[in-house]
Amino acid sequence: MSSITLRQELVDELATRGHLTDPAWRAAVEAVPRELFLGDAVFRPDGTRWKPLRRNALGDEEWLRLAYSDSTWVTQIDGIGAAEASGPLSGRPTSSSTLPSLVVRMLELAGVGAGEKVLEIGTGTGYSTAILSHRLGDRLVHSVEYDPELAGSAAQRLHSAGYFPDCVVGDGLRGHQNGADYHAIIATCAVRSIPPSWLWQLHDGGSITTTISGWMLASGLIRLALDEEGVARGRFTGDPVTYMLARPHERPPRPTFYQHPGSTRRTDIAPDLLDDWTAHFVAQLGAPSAELTRSSDGGAALVDVASGSQAWTEPDGDGWQVHQDGPLRLWDQVEDALTAWQEQGSPDQAAFGMTVTEWEQTVWLGDPDDGPRWRLPT
Ligand SMILES: C[S@@+](CC[C@H](N)C(=O)[O-])C[C@H]1O[C@@H](n2cnc3c(N)ncnc32)[C@H](O)[C@@H]1O
Repeated sequence: MSSITLRQELVDELATRGHLTDPAWRAAVEAVPRELFLGDAVFRPDGTRWKPLRRNALGDEEWLRLAYSDSTWVTQIDGIGAAEASGPLSGRPTSSSTLPSLVVRMLELAGVGAGEKVLEIGTGTGYSTAILSHRLGDRLVHSVEYDPELAGSAAQRLHSAGYFPDCVVGDGLRGHQNGADYHAIIATCAVRSIPPSWLWQLHDGGSITTTISGWMLASGLIRLALDEEGVARGRFTGDPVTYMLARPHERPPRPTFYQHPGSTRRTDIAPDLLDDWTAHFVAQLGAPSAELTRSSDGGAALVDVASGSQAWTEPDGDGWQVHQDGPLRLWDQVEDALTAWQEQGSPDQAAFGMTVTEWEQTVWLGDPDDGPRWRLPT
């Protein structure tokens, strides 16, 4: 089957599933050849490793099917591109082509329309940049990529597809002052909190569409609108979506974890509650500097590298006990946050919102002025 037929099938599938409602974005997805932006190799998960998958090994037809599946394709692991990898790699994905349904979800959520200027953070392969350029025109699209090699190949692929947006190499957490002011900033990498430069570079009434994540890798998608006083506010959508963290917001390297007995008590919070999308997000709000790992017995461990604090659970009859060590009582923090959420009836993530000023960023539950609230690390 040809690229055009497969692309049309993808567009129809996205529209049927309700992901593509705006005809102008539909036309853009119909026009942009995703295979061009994937290059000649991607990674697929292989147990705990990532195995390169090459176009010439798959054959053209299978490769096009891969390109037009509604899947994220990882293109770089710890800075090594799929085409350069000689075999499976262990490590973290550092770039990918986001699944098309999420690309259009972000664009539709951002609510940008003709004549509006956009700053995209995380050019990656350039696929989403091409969709923006098709819809808005090159002049209104600016895109920043941290990794110079990725930025170079994305620019080349954009040019060969006939798009010439402003592609910039740099840290998108600083925005891109030369193109300001923007009607919308759209981040295709996650942030722990909103960089102040994004507020400063927005047009009055502009918006920021991003995922808020953190070191537990919990995530929430949000669109924030900027008011005339320079305060951005919005509610989380509740979509279960994740992006890789912006590189300067990534977790610090974690040394080998040794369980210290510390002080021990029973806990009423069973660690498997953290499998719930919203509970995981709430736990991260409660202990934003902690990383979370799960153990094969269903338990949980929290580690804060900077302070050396840790907490870990152990089965205890029909319940759990928790051991906490170090200056921060990480499990107490998580338990307090989860208890506050449970006292409100354990609502879905869409009940949470966020307020961002130049000085403080808070996530609140229910009522912005009168509900539980947590400060984000800035
Ligand atoms: C999920 S990928 C982008 C997907 C891309 N928009 C697409 O559709 O192909 C995230 C990208 O964000 C980039 N990135 C991470 N931190 C960044 C930062 N601080 N500034 C700009 N780009 C960043 C990564 O290098 C990676 O290429």
